[in-house]
Amino acid sequence: MARPKIALIGAGQIGGTLAHLAAMKELGDVVLFDIAEGTPQGKALDIAESGPSEGFDARLKGTNDYADIAGADVCIVTAGVPRKPGMSRDDLLGINLKVMKSVGEGIAAHAPNAFVICITNPLDAMVWALQKFSGLPANKVCGMAGVLDSARFRHFLSLEFDVSMKDVTAFVLGGHGDTMVPLTRYSTVAGIPLPDLVKMGWTTQEKLDAVVQRTRDGGAEIVALLKTGSAFYAPATSAIEMAEAYLKDQKRVLPCAANLDGAYGLNGMYVGVPTVIGANGIERVIDITLDKDEQAMFDKSVDAVKGLMEACKGIDGSLA
Ligand code: APR
Repeated sequence: MARPKIALIGAGQIGGTLAHLAAMKELGDVVLFDIAEGTPQGKALDIAESGPSEGFDARLKGTNDYADIAGADVCIVTAGVPRKPGMSRDDLLGINLKVMKSVGEGIAAHAPNAFVICITNPLDAMVWALQKFSGLPANKVCGMAGVLDSARFRHFLSLEFDVSMKDVTAFVLGGHGDTMVPLTRYSTVAGIPLPDLVKMGWTTQEKLDAVVQRTRDGGAEIVALLKTGSAFYAPATSAIEMAEAYLKDQKRVLPCAANLDGAYGLNGMYVGVPTVIGANGIERVIDITLDKDEQAMFDKSVDAVKGLMEACKGIDGSLA
């Protein structure tokens, strides 16, 4: 059987890391696409030259021609601009919306059967626009945010409790931004919910609140440190986890920005929710019942995403 083909649209910091991870994990052959001449070609060659030492079997190609993504099984989109210190993800909207239009058209023309994972920010609005511009089925277009947000939450919780990250599960809902909703009652250490761990004296509510806030600000913390761009190792790793779930039909339960068609009382928009990812893309949206406080936080997050969608419609009439 031929190897799967993974097209990476955008060969910047995240795109290059995605290519390296996909090759090292032998998920398939990799095509790196970018509008910058030389960048995708240089990164593809550099990574290919790491193959003999690492011992992976994967072909890598860099290109500036959409024709080279033909027949891709997975497309991961990072094309666009990242944040600089002081910028919010929402500040990227105008520039990145135009990028989504050209990327959507490129994927529709050359890889219409692909499972598409968008990473470009502001994520929930960009993945919604990308699905519309591409015309691909909504179950085949999703956004990477929840896996990263919950990974950050798990990491900070593992530090707080001094236990392995492997034994910490975390549940994050809502848009990828300051309004994301970490659900503490569904987040656990080896199955013990966080509120119980507070009662057991493992931590205090104040410390837990601080961890939640650090998770919400997780992207900004890295932007402030790097000064020249935004996070790329953990975002790339998160998207690869989603791509692997699709390619291997793992039916993983992963949070991601998915199209809502009635779940959570919402329609025709993308927001972060728990999903099942397998060979049919987003196979299921898990519609959990929220308590009053969680619903209020979720509503606030949904309103923020709707505001960005309205701004997109104002910029590009075809989205209205
Ligand atoms: N088509 C293809 N590639 C494009 C286009 C386009 N129309 N416009 C820009 N690019 C490319 C740039 O040339 C650059 O190589 O997208 C790449 C983006 O890479 P970086 O600037 O390194 O950004 P990165 O850190 O990878 O983040 C990409 O993901 O997390 C989000 O907020 C982040 O929106 C940003 C995106």
